[in-house]
Amino acid sequence: MSNIVISGTGLYTPAQSISNEELVESFNTYVANFNQTHAEEITAGEMEALAESSVEFIEKASGIKSRYVMDKSGILDPTRMCPAIPERSNDEPSIQCEISVKASLQAMENARKKPEDIDAVIVACSNMQRAYPAMAVEVQNALGIRGFGFDMNVACSSATFGIQTAVDSIKNANANSVLVVDPEICSGHLNFRDRDAHFIFGDVCTAIILEKAETTTSNNSFEILSTKLQTVFSNNIRNNFGFLNRGDDRGIGNPDKLFVQEGRKVFKEVCPMVAQQITDHLQAEGIAVDSLKRMWLHQANLAMNQLISKRVLGRIATDAESPTILDEYANTSSAGSIIAFHMYNQDFKPGEIGVICSFGAGYSIGSVIVRKR
Ligand code: COA
Repeated sequence: MSNIVISGTGLYTPAQSISNEELVESFNTYVANFNQTHAEEITAGEMEALAESSVEFIEKASGIKSRYVMDKSGILDPTRMCPAIPERSNDEPSIQCEISVKASLQAMENARKKPEDIDAVIVACSNMQRAYPAMAVEVQNALGIRGFGFDMNVACSSATFGIQTAVDSIKNANANSVLVVDPEICSGHLNFRDRDAHFIFGDVCTAIILEKAETTTSNNSFEILSTKLQTVFSNNIRNNFGFLNRGDDRGIGNPDKLFVQEGRKVFKEVCPMVAQQITDHLQAEGIAVDSLKRMWLHQANLAMNQLISKRVLGRIATDAESPTILDEYANTSSAGSIIAFHMYNQDFKPGEIGVICSFGAGYSIGSVIVRKR
């Protein structure tokens, strides 16, 4: 027991959404254009024709039906297939800061906290839009928070790793209340020309306020009973974009500088690891699986979550036991399990227990066991 609570969460959802139908239409136009442009090479057997995508495949393989994005038109333009996000001057808030502030203000309102009550900001997400200064310091400044801020990236597990880091900071008296923000603009690192993955991600931002139980005035807070993190190296989800890219011109702009994955391997390897971690974590805390009200799982793939729940519970979880938001939001990296927690915790009664669990690149897994106060 930590005596540290999640006293509020916030969610920023972009105004624009793309359906599978719209995404597939754009992709298939790109494919038709490509195959027409390269018709001679394809006929000569020097090049392979690109294959079309399909709405049926996407829904069946992933459970995803739509995704929210920061810029729809740039993504759907078959000659561009990338969000159009104009650069801003250094005097304007960066786009990640802007959405972080929106989610954070909602979290602060729900936690009944003012900027002066918070003394640390962690921006925890898969991609930072610049190298430095840290996004967290900009967010801290925009919100008028004193203290310190830093960024951390553990891909899809950034939020749960951020929660444990916040808990440790509070336990060690380095902060009294910490804001963890996850501005996930996943459309920025998704290759919309990659048939295997073009449908996977969406954009969003979540925020979480953590503080000592004794200072909370929130009317909906969850005590953190325990956190558990695990990482095991794998190349199966990888993005080679980085500051050393310019050291070798040959690699610039290649597909490996965006998200790439071996989806099948990820599925097979990660599900058992996640189920084992949740089972071990509950056991270590003396919590019977039957007494678990809900699992707010990472939102990458519906079949993955069903398999995980089957291994943990011995049967596929009901919607109430493992809520799904990926149908509407797609995979929003580290924000997914937090969106699920944010949207589906109001029915908890004091004493009821749930687990937030993220998993993804690294591999990385983070589980956070919480109990309604
Ligand atoms: N439209 C139509 N067909 C497609 C397609 C598309 N967009 N993409 C792939 N296919 C085809 C393939 O060509 C393949 O055809 P074949 O059997 O004739 O060779 C078939 O569908 C199966 O492809 P595969 O890539 O093996 O699909 P899958 O069933 O494994 O599903 C994922 C793909 C990515 C949805 C799934 O593996 C997954 O979700 N994995 C985990 C992802 C994850 O959690 N990642 C973490 C990121 S944080």
